[in-house]
Amino acid sequence: MLLLRVLVSYCHLIGGWMDRVPTGVKGLDELLGGGIPKERCVLVVGSPGSGKTTLAMQFLREGALGEENGLYVTMDESPDQIKENLSGFRWDLDRLEREGKLFFIDATLIRHVRSKDTHYGEQNVLLDTAGVFPQLTLKELIRTVHKVVDEEKIQRLVVDPVTSIMLRYERASSRRKAMLVLFDALEATGCTSFVVTELRTAMLDRAFQLEEFLSQGVILLHTIPHEGSIVRAIQIEKMRGIPHDIQLRPYQITGEGIEVFSKDRVFP
Ligand SMILES: Nc1ncnc2c1ncn2[C@@H]1O[C@H](COP(=O)(O)OP(=O)(O)OP(=O)(O)O)[C@@H](O)[C@H]1O
Ligand SMILES: [Mg+2]
Repeated sequence: MLLLRVLVSYCHLIGGWMDRVPTGVKGLDELLGGGIPKERCVLVVGSPGSGKTTLAMQFLREGALGEENGLYVTMDESPDQIKENLSGFRWDLDRLEREGKLFFIDATLIRHVRSKDTHYGEQNVLLDTAGVFPQLTLKELIRTVHKVVDEEKIQRLVVDPVTSIMLRYERASSRRKAMLVLFDALEATGCTSFVVTELRTAMLDRAFQLEEFLSQGVILLHTIPHEGSIVRAIQIEKMRGIPHDIQLRPYQITGEGIEVFSKDRVFP
């Protein structure tokens, strides 16, 4: 009994109670003590071109190469554009798609729904407004995601980026509600999810974004100007429920994808 108690405390100490999902990113799993907590929704925040989409697809590919089917919800670019932009990597995404391990939802139509903070539905998120474009609301998107997750036995999910949805809400309180609805809906799928959002500054000393407070975990991708050049640095800002590294660590993007140097410091 005593031995069991000691073992339990030890497991708590090393954060061993939560099942982990490996990201497929060399070095990142070491910073996380094994991977992302299973079935959690994690925010990937980064500046333009920092590698958010690369990281998200690498995470899905890792699952698809194993036993976990992946779903990529594209908000700003079509699935074809995403695949074309990632075609420089030695990843055979078409094959994974053909084998029924990788799926896409093209949610770019959501950009065309006009913002109207006053019109809420049963989930307290924006419902249909009268627009001239075909419409896709957050509620419909969530319904579609749940359907595909069930039908295709999806276990890893990416939404890239959520910035377009958030920009539709003028009031901070509405943005907060919409974000919480989305996070709750993604966690309710039982998938482990990456939600991508855009960082609007290259400064390390910056205001936090609303989404960072609301999510279970935050991975930051920085591109930092330093002595006339740009340094790429990754940081686990938070990951509820597990101990993790919090330092800025250098990373590079190569033909294989993102590689994190988990032992190195950005500014020695
Ligand atoms: N095959 C490759 N080898 C090395 N680096 C690459 C390769 N393909 C892309 N990159 C680098 O990755 C960067 C873009 O990565 P990615 O599209 O994932 O960034 P992002 O943060 O999603 O960008 P955005 O803000 O535009 O959505 C490119 O700007 C380029 O520097
Ligand atoms: Mg991108």
